[in-house]
Amino acid sequence: MDMKIALVPGDGIGPDIVEEAVRVLDRVASKFGHDIEYKEIDAGGISIDKYGIPLTEDALESAKASDAVLLGAVGGPRWDSLPGAKRPEKALLGLRSGLGLFCNFRPAVIYPELADASPLKDSIIGKGVDLLVVRELTGGIYFGERGRSDDGEEAYDTMRYSRMEITRIARKAFEAAMLRKRHVTLVDKANVLESSRLWRETVSALAPSYPDVTLDFMYVDNASMQLVQDPSRFDVVLTENMFGDILSDEASMITGSIGMLSSASLREDSFGMYEPIHGSAPDIAGQDIANPIATILSAASMLRYSFSLEKEAEAIEDAVKSALADGIRTRDIAVEGEKIVGTKECGREIGERI
Ligand code: IPM
Ligand code: MG
Repeated sequence: MDMKIALVPGDGIGPDIVEEAVRVLDRVASKFGHDIEYKEIDAGGISIDKYGIPLTEDALESAKASDAVLLGAVGGPRWDSLPGAKRPEKALLGLRSGLGLFCNFRPAVIYPELADASPLKDSIIGKGVDLLVVRELTGGIYFGERGRSDDGEEAYDTMRYSRMEITRIARKAFEAAMLRKRHVTLVDKANVLESSRLWRETVSALAPSYPDVTLDFMYVDNASMQLVQDPSRFDVVLTENMFGDILSDEASMITGSIGMLSSASLREDSFGMYEPIHGSAPDIAGQDIANPIATILSAASMLRYSFSLEKEAEAIEDAVKSALADGIRTRDIAVEGEKIVGTKECGREIGERI
């Protein structure tokens, strides 16, 4: 297969980890007989430095012209003092909305080899953690009208959703649940927010089309508590944009391995953008320390969702598992006494196992 992949290394450790994902992808391509054409795109802080804005029209067009996007991370303290519209994060938001990626899958799973890294007690994680946050990504308060009063003394952001926006993401959640434990929990704040009540109404109306899936509802404050009390009760967590942002950080942390978790941002066709859940960790950038596994697993998701290359995706996932089983550990996932490898060695060890 011929694949056109846009690479957005971004800032901080972004370039370090994307390089290792490319190493692994190249290995897959040569083993399975595929052809990959890469195009590198500047976005985030690096684009601010070069062009004065976080995402240029050209960059967005190149991303659109590819089959899929693999992104490292954007942002860093150097650009923190810039106003909202000029911040590196704006590049991410611009790519998500410009590419129409309304559906964000953020899985949180415990790797048995790394269970010790979880901040939760064994008695809690012993029941297993394997959940999928399905976050709406192009609507809600992130993209609603916002502003300040003329005197600057008041500010507002608007959370707004249409039935159409809710329906299309809910379908994705139900479909994902069909391939998992067939349980969707809609997380909202329907005791307070009108937009949440529209979510409940719309998702409930859709549920009969998926008779094998159990649907329940939970307020977001309760959900954040249940996540640490008994994460095993969740399978698919369906939620709006900002609640999904918050809960996905919480869910990833309970696995103890935020450096291991990938995410996929999708739309109705096969196009997608794939990135690790973690940030740009500027303090360790360029030092051959960062864990490349989340990005390598993001590349596996890309092969699965955008190119329907299931065998190849599994080959990467198996290589990661085998490297972990053999004790390959970057600093963030090593416990006392374990030998630590650098970013490149970790990537090479995984590549060799393909
Ligand atoms: C994420 C990040 C982004 C978000 C930021 C960087 C804009 O936190 O992908 O979760 O809030 O969506
Ligand atoms: Mg976030």
